[in-house]
Amino acid sequence: MTVTIVGSQLGDEGKGGVVDLYGDAADVVVRYQGGDNAGHTVVEGDEEYKLSLVPSGAVRDKVGVLGNGCVVNPETLFDEMDALRERGLDPDVRLARRAHVIFPYHRALDGIEEEAKSDSDAEVGTTGRGIGPTYEDKVGRRGVRVGDLLDPDVLREKLEYVVPQKRALAEEVYGVETGEEFNVDALYEQYREYGERLAAEDMTVDAGDFLGDRIDAGKNVMFEGAQGTVIDIDHGNYPYVTSSNPTAGGAATGTGVSPGVVGGGEVIGIVKAYLTRVGSGPLPTELGGVAGDTPGYDEQGEGENEELAEYIREKGGEYGTVTGRPRRVGWLDVPMLRHAARTNGFTGLAINHVDVLAGLDEVKVGHSYDLDGEELFTMPATTERWGRCEPNFRSFDGWEDVDWDVVAEQGYDAIPANARRYLDYVSEQIDTDIYAVGVGPGREQTVVLDDPFE
Ligand code: IMP
Repeated sequence: MTVTIVGSQLGDEGKGGVVDLYGDAADVVVRYQGGDNAGHTVVEGDEEYKLSLVPSGAVRDKVGVLGNGCVVNPETLFDEMDALRERGLDPDVRLARRAHVIFPYHRALDGIEEEAKSDSDAEVGTTGRGIGPTYEDKVGRRGVRVGDLLDPDVLREKLEYVVPQKRALAEEVYGVETGEEFNVDALYEQYREYGERLAAEDMTVDAGDFLGDRIDAGKNVMFEGAQGTVIDIDHGNYPYVTSSNPTAGGAATGTGVSPGVVGGGEVIGIVKAYLTRVGSGPLPTELGGVAGDTPGYDEQGEGENEELAEYIREKGGEYGTVTGRPRRVGWLDVPMLRHAARTNGFTGLAINHVDVLAGLDEVKVGHSYDLDGEELFTMPATTERWGRCEPNFRSFDGWEDVDWDVVAEQGYDAIPANARRYLDYVSEQIDTDIYAVGVGPGREQTVVLDDPFE
Protein backbone atom coordinates (compact mmCIF):
# COMPACT_ATOMS: atom_id res chain seq x y z
CA MET A 1 0.00 0.00 0.00
CA THR A 2 1.27 3.47 -0.81
CA VAL A 3 0.18 6.92 0.36
CA THR A 4 1.38 10.02 -1.44
CA ILE A 5 1.41 13.36 0.35
CA VAL A 6 1.22 16.33 -2.02
CA GLY A 7 1.13 20.07 -1.45
CA SER A 8 -1.92 21.52 -3.21
CA GLN A 9 -0.77 25.14 -3.15
CA LEU A 10 2.61 26.87 -3.17
CA GLY A 11 4.42 24.74 -0.61
CA ASP A 12 4.51 25.18 3.17
CA GLU A 13 1.07 23.62 3.63
CA GLY A 14 2.23 21.54 6.58
CA LYS A 15 3.11 18.34 4.71
CA GLY A 16 5.73 17.35 7.30
CA GLY A 17 3.08 17.28 10.01
CA VAL A 18 0.79 15.06 7.92
CA VAL A 19 3.63 12.69 7.02
CA ASP A 20 4.31 12.52 10.71
CA LEU A 21 0.66 11.93 11.56
CA TYR A 22 0.11 9.05 9.14
CA GLY A 23 3.72 7.90 9.08
CA ASP A 24 3.30 5.57 12.05
CA ALA A 25 1.85 2.94 9.76
CA ALA A 26 4.54 3.47 7.10
CA ASP A 27 7.64 1.32 6.93
CA VAL A 28 9.43 3.56 4.45
CA VAL A 29 9.09 7.31 3.80
CA VAL A 30 10.36 8.45 0.41
CA ARG A 31 11.06 11.87 -1.02
CA TYR A 32 10.70 11.89 -4.79
CA GLN A 33 11.80 15.38 -5.86
CA GLY A 34 13.55 18.54 -4.78
CA GLY A 35 16.52 18.86 -2.52
CA ASP A 36 17.52 20.96 0.47
CA ASN A 37 15.11 23.69 -0.62
CA ALA A 38 12.30 21.96 1.27
CA GLY A 39 11.45 23.05 4.77
CA HIS A 40 9.86 20.28 6.80
CA THR A 41 9.05 20.91 10.42
CA VAL A 42 8.24 17.97 12.66
CA VAL A 43 7.11 18.72 16.19
CA GLU A 44 7.23 16.04 18.87
CA GLY A 45 6.24 17.20 22.34
CA ASP A 46 8.64 20.04 23.10
CA GLU A 47 11.07 18.95 20.43
CA GLU A 48 11.02 20.61 17.03
CA TYR A 49 12.96 19.18 14.11
CA LYS A 50 13.58 21.35 11.09
CA LEU A 51 14.73 19.37 8.10
CA SER A 52 15.43 20.49 4.57
CA LEU A 53 16.55 17.24 2.92
CA VAL A 54 16.22 14.19 5.13
CA PRO A 55 12.68 12.73 4.83
CA SER A 56 10.50 13.65 7.84
CA GLY A 57 9.90 9.97 8.61
CA ALA A 58 13.55 9.54 9.64
CA VAL A 59 12.68 11.36 12.88
CA ARG A 60 10.36 8.46 13.72
CA ASP A 61 12.65 5.53 13.06
CA LYS A 62 11.32 4.93 9.55
CA VAL A 63 13.60 4.12 6.67
CA GLY A 64 13.94 7.39 4.75
CA VAL A 65 14.69 7.25 1.03
CA LEU A 66 15.75 10.07 -1.27
CA GLY A 67 14.53 8.91 -4.67
CA ASN A 68 16.12 9.36 -8.09
CA GLY A 69 13.98 12.45 -8.67
CA CYS A 70 15.79 14.27 -5.88
CA VAL A 71 18.87 16.44 -6.08
CA VAL A 72 21.18 15.85 -3.16
CA ASN A 73 23.65 18.15 -1.48
CA PRO A 74 25.80 15.66 0.48
CA GLU A 75 26.97 18.35 2.88
CA THR A 76 23.38 19.13 3.95
CA LEU A 77 22.57 15.44 4.11
CA PHE A 78 25.41 14.62 6.48
CA ASP A 79 24.87 17.78 8.54
CA GLU A 80 21.22 16.92 9.09
CA MET A 81 21.97 13.28 9.88
CA ASP A 82 24.72 14.26 12.31
CA ALA A 83 22.44 16.81 13.99
CA LEU A 84 19.72 14.17 14.44
CA ARG A 85 22.29 11.77 15.88
CA GLU A 86 23.43 14.43 18.34
CA ARG A 87 19.84 14.63 19.51
CA GLY A 88 19.80 10.91 20.19
CA LEU A 89 18.11 9.67 17.00
CA ASP A 90 19.46 7.03 14.65
CA PRO A 91 18.25 8.05 11.17
CA ASP A 92 18.28 5.33 8.50
CA VAL A 93 18.53 7.22 5.20
CA ARG A 94 19.06 5.68 1.75
CA LEU A 95 19.92 7.54 -1.42
CA ALA A 96 18.98 6.56 -4.94
CA ARG A 97 22.12 5.99 -6.98
CA ARG A 98 20.24 7.70 -9.81
CA ALA A 99 19.65 10.90 -7.84
CA HIS A 100 21.66 13.91 -9.00
CA VAL A 101 24.28 15.64 -6.89
CA ILE A 102 24.31 19.35 -6.08
CA PHE A 103 27.80 20.86 -6.26
CA PRO A 104 29.00 24.22 -4.94
CA TYR A 105 29.07 25.58 -8.52
CA HIS A 106 25.33 24.91 -8.76
CA ARG A 107 24.69 27.02 -5.70
CA ALA A 108 26.98 29.75 -7.01
CA LEU A 109 25.22 29.77 -10.39
CA ASP A 110 21.80 29.87 -8.72
CA GLY A 111 22.81 33.14 -7.05
CA ILE A 112 24.53 34.50 -10.15
CA GLU A 113 21.48 33.97 -12.35
CA GLU A 114 19.07 35.39 -9.78
CA GLU A 115 21.28 38.45 -9.53
CA ALA A 116 21.35 38.83 -13.30
CA LYS A 117 17.56 38.47 -13.51
CA SER A 118 17.04 41.02 -10.76
CA ASP A 119 18.22 43.75 -13.13
CA SER A 120 14.90 43.36 -14.89
CA ASP A 121 12.87 42.42 -11.77
CA ALA A 122 12.63 38.89 -13.11
CA GLU A 123 14.21 36.88 -10.30
CA VAL A 124 12.34 33.80 -9.14
CA GLY A 125 13.25 34.26 -5.49
CA THR A 126 14.87 30.83 -5.26
CA THR A 127 16.15 29.36 -2.03
CA GLY A 128 19.66 29.68 -3.40
CA ARG A 129 20.38 25.98 -2.89
CA GLY A 130 21.44 25.30 -6.48
CA ILE A 131 18.27 23.34 -7.24
CA GLY A 132 17.56 24.79 -10.72
CA PRO A 133 21.14 24.56 -12.01
CA THR A 134 21.41 20.93 -10.84
CA TYR A 135 18.21 19.91 -12.63
CA GLU A 136 19.46 21.80 -15.69
CA ASP A 137 22.55 19.61 -15.74
CA LYS A 138 20.43 16.49 -15.26
CA VAL A 139 18.28 17.32 -18.28
CA GLY A 140 21.35 18.52 -20.19
CA ARG A 141 22.90 15.07 -19.65
CA ARG A 142 25.97 16.45 -17.95
CA GLY A 143 24.99 15.89 -14.32
CA VAL A 144 26.82 13.83 -11.71
CA ARG A 145 24.72 11.20 -10.01
CA VAL A 146 25.02 9.73 -6.53
CA GLY A 147 26.27 6.47 -8.03
CA ASP A 148 29.15 8.37 -9.66
CA LEU A 149 30.42 9.47 -6.25
CA LEU A 150 31.16 5.82 -5.50
CA ASP A 151 33.54 5.52 -8.45
CA PRO A 152 36.40 8.05 -8.21
CA ASP A 153 37.46 7.60 -11.84
CA VAL A 154 33.99 8.30 -13.15
CA LEU A 155 33.61 11.24 -10.78
CA ARG A 156 36.89 12.76 -11.94
CA GLU A 157 36.04 12.30 -15.60
CA LYS A 158 32.63 13.95 -15.21
CA LEU A 159 33.99 16.88 -13.24
CA GLU A 160 36.74 17.43 -15.79
CA TYR A 161 34.09 17.71 -18.48
CA VAL A 162 31.57 19.88 -16.69
CA VAL A 163 33.46 22.19 -14.35
CA PRO A 164 35.38 24.17 -17.02
CA GLN A 165 32.04 24.80 -18.75
CA LYS A 166 30.54 26.13 -15.56
CA ARG A 167 33.59 28.27 -14.86
CA ALA A 168 33.43 29.75 -18.35
CA LEU A 169 29.72 30.44 -17.91
CA ALA A 170 30.31 32.26 -14.63
CA GLU A 171 33.35 34.19 -15.78
CA GLU A 172 32.73 34.87 -19.42
CA VAL A 173 28.95 35.15 -19.61
CA TYR A 174 28.20 36.64 -16.21
CA GLY A 175 31.59 38.27 -15.62
CA VAL A 176 32.03 37.08 -12.05
CA GLU A 177 35.21 35.90 -10.38
CA THR A 178 35.21 32.24 -9.45
CA GLY A 179 36.91 30.39 -6.60
CA GLU A 180 37.19 26.91 -5.10
CA GLU A 181 33.61 26.07 -6.01
CA PHE A 182 34.72 25.88 -9.66
CA ASN A 183 37.99 24.03 -9.01
CA VAL A 184 38.08 20.43 -10.27
CA ASP A 185 40.72 19.19 -7.83
CA ALA A 186 39.08 20.66 -4.75
CA LEU A 187 35.64 19.38 -5.78
CA TYR A 188 36.99 15.95 -6.62
CA GLU A 189 38.65 15.56 -3.21
CA GLN A 190 35.60 16.75 -1.28
CA TYR A 191 33.04 14.68 -3.21
CA ARG A 192 35.19 11.55 -3.33
CA GLU A 193 35.16 11.69 0.45
CA TYR A 194 31.40 12.03 0.48
CA GLY A 195 31.28 8.97 -1.74
CA GLU A 196 33.46 7.06 0.71
CA ARG A 197 31.14 7.93 3.56
CA LEU A 198 28.07 6.92 1.55
CA ALA A 199 29.72 3.58 0.82
CA ALA A 200 30.95 3.07 4.40
CA GLU A 201 27.45 3.68 5.76
CA ASP A 202 25.91 1.57 2.99
CA MET A 203 23.51 4.36 2.14
CA THR A 204 23.02 4.05 -1.61
CA VAL A 205 20.32 1.94 -3.27
CA ASP A 206 18.60 1.31 -6.56
CA ALA A 207 15.43 3.06 -5.38
CA GLY A 208 13.05 1.21 -7.72
CA ASP A 209 14.34 -2.20 -6.61
CA PHE A 210 14.55 -1.21 -2.96
CA LEU A 211 10.99 0.09 -2.87
CA GLY A 212 9.57 -2.55 -5.21
CA ASP A 213 10.88 -5.34 -2.95
CA ARG A 214 9.28 -3.75 0.07
CA ILE A 215 5.96 -3.13 -1.67
CA ASP A 216 5.94 -6.75 -2.89
CA ALA A 217 6.54 -7.85 0.69
CA GLY A 218 3.40 -5.98 1.78
CA LYS A 219 5.16 -3.04 3.43
CA ASN A 220 3.60 0.41 3.60
CA VAL A 221 5.37 3.12 1.65
CA MET A 222 4.72 6.83 2.01
CA PHE A 223 5.77 9.27 -0.70
CA GLU A 224 6.53 12.65 0.80
CA GLY A 225 6.14 15.50 -1.66
CA ALA A 226 8.08 18.69 -1.13
CA GLN A 227 7.00 22.16 -2.32
CA GLY A 228 3.54 22.25 -3.95
CA THR A 229 1.46 21.90 -7.12
CA VAL A 230 1.63 25.56 -8.14
CA ILE A 231 5.43 25.59 -8.03
CA ASP A 232 5.65 22.36 -10.08
CA ILE A 233 7.86 22.83 -13.14
CA ASP A 234 5.08 21.59 -15.45
CA HIS A 235 1.84 22.38 -13.65
CA GLY A 236 2.84 25.47 -11.71
CA ASN A 237 3.09 29.14 -12.55
CA TYR A 238 6.17 28.95 -14.73
CA PRO A 239 8.78 30.43 -14.46
CA TYR A 240 8.07 31.16 -10.76
CA VAL A 241 8.46 27.50 -9.94
CA THR A 242 10.92 25.02 -8.57
CA SER A 243 12.63 22.77 -11.10
CA SER A 244 10.97 19.44 -10.26
CA ASN A 245 7.55 17.75 -10.12
CA PRO A 246 5.99 17.94 -6.65
CA THR A 247 2.71 16.65 -8.17
CA ALA A 248 1.70 13.02 -7.71
CA GLY A 249 3.12 11.85 -11.05
CA GLY A 250 6.54 12.73 -9.68
CA ALA A 251 6.14 10.02 -7.07
CA ALA A 252 6.40 7.44 -9.86
CA THR A 253 9.10 8.99 -12.05
CA GLY A 254 11.06 10.16 -9.02
CA THR A 255 11.31 6.75 -7.36
CA GLY A 256 11.08 3.99 -9.94
CA VAL A 257 7.75 2.74 -8.58
CA SER A 258 5.15 2.41 -11.34
CA PRO A 259 2.35 4.96 -11.84
CA GLY A 260 -0.15 2.15 -11.34
CA VAL A 261 1.17 1.46 -7.86
CA VAL A 262 1.20 5.15 -6.91
CA GLY A 263 -2.27 5.71 -8.39
CA GLY A 264 -3.58 2.53 -6.80
CA GLY A 265 -2.80 3.95 -3.39
CA GLU A 266 -4.09 7.09 -1.74
CA VAL A 267 -3.06 10.61 -2.71
CA ILE A 268 -3.61 13.11 0.06
CA GLY A 269 -3.75 16.78 -0.85
CA ILE A 270 -2.42 19.06 1.84
CA VAL A 271 -4.22 22.39 2.02
CA LYS A 272 -3.43 25.34 4.22
CA ALA A 273 -6.65 27.14 5.27
CA TYR A 274 -5.20 30.30 3.73
CA LEU A 275 -2.37 30.86 1.28
CA THR A 276 1.30 31.71 1.58
CA ARG A 277 4.03 32.16 -0.93
CA VAL A 278 7.76 32.72 -0.69
CA GLY A 279 9.46 34.08 -3.75
CA SER A 280 8.09 35.92 -6.75
CA GLY A 281 5.05 35.51 -8.95
CA PRO A 282 1.37 36.40 -8.91
CA LEU A 283 -0.95 35.73 -6.01
CA PRO A 284 -4.46 36.90 -6.93
CA THR A 285 -5.88 36.53 -3.42
CA GLU A 286 -2.90 38.24 -1.78
CA LEU A 287 -3.69 40.22 1.35
CA GLY A 288 -0.57 42.28 1.61
CA GLY A 289 2.86 42.11 0.12
CA VAL A 290 6.32 41.78 1.57
CA ALA A 291 8.08 44.78 0.12
CA GLY A 292 10.44 43.94 -2.68
CA ASP A 293 9.47 40.29 -2.80
CA THR A 294 6.96 40.44 -5.62
CA PRO A 295 8.81 41.76 -8.63
CA GLY A 296 6.48 42.50 -11.49
CA TYR A 297 3.39 41.83 -9.46
CA ASP A 298 3.69 44.41 -6.71
CA GLU A 299 0.40 45.97 -7.60
CA GLN A 300 -1.51 42.85 -6.55
CA GLY A 301 -2.96 43.33 -3.13
CA GLU A 302 0.23 44.95 -1.97
CA GLY A 303 -0.40 47.02 1.11
CA GLU A 304 -4.19 46.82 0.90
CA ASN A 305 -4.51 44.51 3.81
CA GLU A 306 -1.00 44.35 5.12
CA GLU A 307 -2.17 44.53 8.71
CA LEU A 308 -4.27 41.40 8.33
CA ALA A 309 -1.47 39.68 6.42
CA GLU A 310 0.92 40.56 9.22
CA TYR A 311 -1.49 39.18 11.82
CA ILE A 312 -1.78 35.85 10.01
CA ARG A 313 1.97 35.75 9.29
CA GLU A 314 2.81 36.19 12.95
CA LYS A 315 0.15 33.86 14.29
CA GLY A 316 0.96 31.16 11.75
CA GLY A 317 4.74 31.56 12.05
CA GLU A 318 4.85 32.16 8.32
CA TYR A 319 8.58 32.52 7.82
CA GLY A 320 10.56 30.28 5.47
CA THR A 321 11.98 27.16 7.17
CA VAL A 322 14.99 27.14 4.86
CA THR A 323 15.60 30.84 4.28
CA GLY A 324 13.76 32.60 7.13
CA ARG A 325 12.08 34.89 4.59
CA PRO A 326 8.66 36.32 5.56
CA ARG A 327 5.97 34.62 3.50
CA ARG A 328 3.42 36.54 1.49
CA VAL A 329 -0.11 35.84 2.70
CA GLY A 330 -3.44 35.54 0.89
CA TRP A 331 -6.90 34.09 1.26
CA LEU A 332 -7.55 30.53 0.16
CA ASP A 333 -7.59 30.32 -3.63
CA VAL A 334 -10.18 27.74 -4.68
CA PRO A 335 -9.46 27.75 -8.46
CA MET A 336 -5.91 26.78 -7.44
CA LEU A 337 -7.25 23.86 -5.41
CA ARG A 338 -9.45 22.67 -8.28
CA HIS A 339 -6.37 22.69 -10.52
CA ALA A 340 -4.40 20.76 -7.89
CA ALA A 341 -7.17 18.19 -7.41
CA ARG A 342 -7.33 17.44 -11.13
CA THR A 343 -3.57 17.27 -11.57
CA ASN A 344 -2.97 15.01 -8.58
CA GLY A 345 -6.16 12.95 -8.26
CA PHE A 346 -6.60 13.52 -4.55
CA THR A 347 -8.36 10.77 -2.66
CA GLY A 348 -8.38 12.75 0.59
CA LEU A 349 -7.57 16.19 1.99
CA ALA A 350 -5.75 17.36 5.07
CA ILE A 351 -6.61 20.97 5.85
CA ASN A 352 -4.12 22.69 8.13
CA HIS A 353 -3.80 25.88 10.17
CA VAL A 354 -7.53 26.25 10.79
CA ASP A 355 -6.63 27.56 14.27
CA VAL A 356 -4.56 30.40 12.77
CA LEU A 357 -7.65 32.03 11.27
CA ALA A 358 -9.58 31.84 14.56
CA GLY A 359 -10.56 35.18 16.04
CA LEU A 360 -11.12 36.97 12.71
CA ASP A 361 -14.56 38.50 12.14
CA GLU A 362 -14.64 37.38 8.55
CA VAL A 363 -12.76 34.77 6.54
CA LYS A 364 -12.74 35.04 2.77
CA VAL A 365 -11.94 32.66 -0.06
CA GLY A 366 -11.31 33.36 -3.72
CA HIS A 367 -14.14 31.24 -5.17
CA SER A 368 -13.50 31.94 -8.86
CA TYR A 369 -11.65 34.46 -11.01
CA ASP A 370 -12.74 37.13 -13.46
CA LEU A 371 -10.53 37.41 -16.49
CA ASP A 372 -11.40 39.48 -19.54
CA GLY A 373 -15.10 39.35 -18.71
CA GLU A 374 -15.14 35.58 -18.20
CA GLU A 375 -15.57 33.68 -14.93
CA LEU A 376 -12.88 31.01 -14.46
CA PHE A 377 -13.01 28.14 -11.98
CA THR A 378 -9.46 26.85 -12.40
CA MET A 379 -6.10 28.52 -12.96
CA PRO A 380 -5.24 29.68 -16.47
CA ALA A 381 -2.20 27.94 -17.94
CA THR A 382 -0.09 31.02 -18.43
CA THR A 383 1.30 33.05 -15.59
CA GLU A 384 0.61 36.31 -17.36
CA ARG A 385 -3.11 35.45 -17.50
CA TRP A 386 -3.12 34.19 -13.91
CA GLY A 387 -1.52 37.47 -12.88
CA ARG A 388 -4.45 39.36 -14.40
CA CYS A 389 -7.12 37.30 -12.65
CA GLU A 390 -9.36 39.18 -10.25
CA PRO A 391 -10.74 36.90 -7.56
CA ASN A 392 -14.45 36.71 -6.80
CA PHE A 393 -14.46 36.41 -3.06
CA ARG A 394 -16.91 34.54 -0.88
CA SER A 395 -17.17 35.51 2.74
CA PHE A 396 -17.57 33.26 5.76
CA ASP A 397 -18.33 34.32 9.31
CA GLY A 398 -15.18 33.93 11.39
CA TRP A 399 -14.83 31.41 14.18
CA GLU A 400 -13.78 31.87 17.74
CA ASP A 401 -10.46 30.86 19.26
CA VAL A 402 -11.02 27.80 21.41
CA ASP A 403 -8.88 25.27 23.25
CA TRP A 404 -7.72 23.42 20.16
CA ASP A 405 -6.16 20.59 22.16
CA VAL A 406 -9.63 19.77 23.44
CA VAL A 407 -11.02 20.01 19.89
CA ALA A 408 -8.34 17.61 18.66
CA GLU A 409 -9.30 15.16 21.38
CA GLN A 410 -13.05 15.41 20.88
CA GLY A 411 -13.12 15.26 17.09
CA TYR A 412 -14.72 16.98 14.12
CA ASP A 413 -17.96 18.01 15.81
CA ALA A 414 -15.99 19.98 18.40
CA ILE A 415 -14.60 22.28 15.68
CA PRO A 416 -16.46 25.63 15.88
CA ALA A 417 -19.53 25.56 13.62
CA ASN A 418 -18.35 28.39 11.36
CA ALA A 419 -15.02 26.67 10.77
CA ARG A 420 -16.89 23.46 9.88
CA ARG A 421 -18.94 25.42 7.35
CA TYR A 422 -15.70 26.61 5.82
CA LEU A 423 -14.20 23.12 5.74
CA ASP A 424 -17.37 21.59 4.28
CA TYR A 425 -17.32 24.22 1.53
CA VAL A 426 -13.72 23.35 0.60
CA SER A 427 -14.42 19.62 0.59
CA GLU A 428 -17.49 20.13 -1.60
CA GLN A 429 -15.71 22.38 -4.09
CA ILE A 430 -12.82 19.94 -4.45
CA ASP A 431 -15.16 16.96 -4.34
CA THR A 432 -12.82 15.20 -1.95
CA ASP A 433 -13.31 13.98 1.61
CA ILE A 434 -11.43 15.56 4.46
CA TYR A 435 -9.17 13.05 6.22
CA ALA A 436 -7.59 15.40 8.75
CA VAL A 437 -7.86 18.94 10.08
CA GLY A 438 -4.78 20.57 11.59
CA VAL A 439 -5.56 22.79 14.57
CA GLY A 440 -2.00 23.32 15.84
CA PRO A 441 1.61 22.51 14.98
CA GLY A 442 1.97 19.14 16.78
CA ARG A 443 0.66 15.91 15.30
CA GLU A 444 -1.57 15.42 18.33
CA GLN A 445 -3.20 18.76 17.45
CA THR A 446 -5.00 17.18 14.54
CA VAL A 447 -8.59 16.09 14.14
CA VAL A 448 -8.30 12.76 12.37
CA LEU A 449 -11.30 11.56 10.36
CA ASP A 450 -9.62 8.90 8.29
CA ASP A 451 -6.29 7.08 8.09
CA PRO A 452 -5.26 6.31 4.50
CA PHE A 453 -3.23 3.26 5.57
CA GLU A 454 -6.23 1.61 7.22
P1 IMP B 1 14.20 26.79 -5.79
O1 IMP B 1 13.43 25.55 -5.52
O2 IMP B 1 15.19 27.13 -4.73
O3 IMP B 1 14.80 26.81 -7.16
O4 IMP B 1 13.16 28.00 -5.78
C1 IMP B 1 12.18 28.17 -6.78
C2 IMP B 1 10.88 28.70 -6.21
O5 IMP B 1 10.29 27.70 -5.38
C3 IMP B 1 11.03 29.93 -5.32
O6 IMP B 1 9.91 30.76 -5.49
C4 IMP B 1 11.07 29.36 -3.93
O7 IMP B 1 10.68 30.29 -2.97
C5 IMP B 1 10.07 28.22 -4.07
N1 IMP B 1 10.31 27.14 -3.10
C6 IMP B 1 11.30 26.23 -3.11
N2 IMP B 1 11.18 25.39 -2.07
C7 IMP B 1 10.09 25.78 -1.40
C8 IMP B 1 9.43 25.28 -0.22
O8 IMP B 1 9.83 24.30 0.41
N3 IMP B 1 8.32 25.96 0.15
C9 IMP B 1 7.83 27.02 -0.53
N4 IMP B 1 8.41 27.52 -1.62
C10 IMP B 1 9.53 26.90 -2.05
